[in-house]
Amino acid sequence: MIRILHVNSSARTIGSASRAGGEMVVAALVARHEGASVTTREAAAEAAFLTEDWIEASFTSADARSGEQNDRLAVSDRLAKEVLEADILVLSVSMYNFNISGAMKTWIDQIARPGLTFRPDPEHTYVGLATGKVAYLVVATGETPIGGDMDFATPYLKHVLGFLGITDVTFVSADMTVTDNAAVQNKLEVQIRALFP
Ligand SMILES: Cc1cc2nc3c(=O)[nH]c(=O)nc-3n(C[C@H](O)[C@H](O)[C@H](O)COP(=O)(O)O)c2cc1C
Repeated sequence: MIRILHVNSSARTIGSASRAGGEMVVAALVARHEGASVTTREAAAEAAFLTEDWIEASFTSADARSGEQNDRLAVSDRLAKEVLEADILVLSVSMYNFNISGAMKTWIDQIARPGLTFRPDPEHTYVGLATGKVAYLVVATGETPIGGDMDFATPYLKHVLGFLGITDVTFVSADMTVTDNAAVQNKLEVQIRALFP
């Protein structure tokens, strides 16, 4: 059975292009993979800022952690496990201030775990451990063109997912939402039809 993990990060629950686009991608994936399971998460509700305790626990090897340290990492463990167990990630990304939202960044901070989703290698580079999955990233912007000089969101997402071992990344653009909702919807439909003919 194919497991799909869909993570929303828009603060908007109504009129969000990234949510709408993510749901369209999920629907297309479910139509393609009969019996697929879908887990949907709200980044803002699930993740929290990293704390000093969290960092110390995260960099302590699993067999040396105290019960309290394990408790500190419980949410992170669960979120990282969901990523590791997923075959397909669908990230609904809103651009805020030329980058991803704080909610999405916080979710990423929680899933990037030494020894779990990445590990240092002897060459002092990193090996991503969340391999064998594909990711669809639906990115909504108001006026900033995706791929342009002011888009710091998509290069960052590609880099950080690659760092975790997720290199098969497809972007679905919902940019320029400020212009015309119907045009954005149409653009989403065209891209998703092309991805899932
Ligand atoms: C706090 C905030 C910051 C934003 N910053 C940008 C920005 O830097 N560039 C841009 O093109 N749009 C910006 N926007 C517009 C959003 O990217 C746009 O409304 C997008 O559709 C939001 O995603 P959503 O439709 O999924 O909610 C911003 C919106 C908010 C609320």
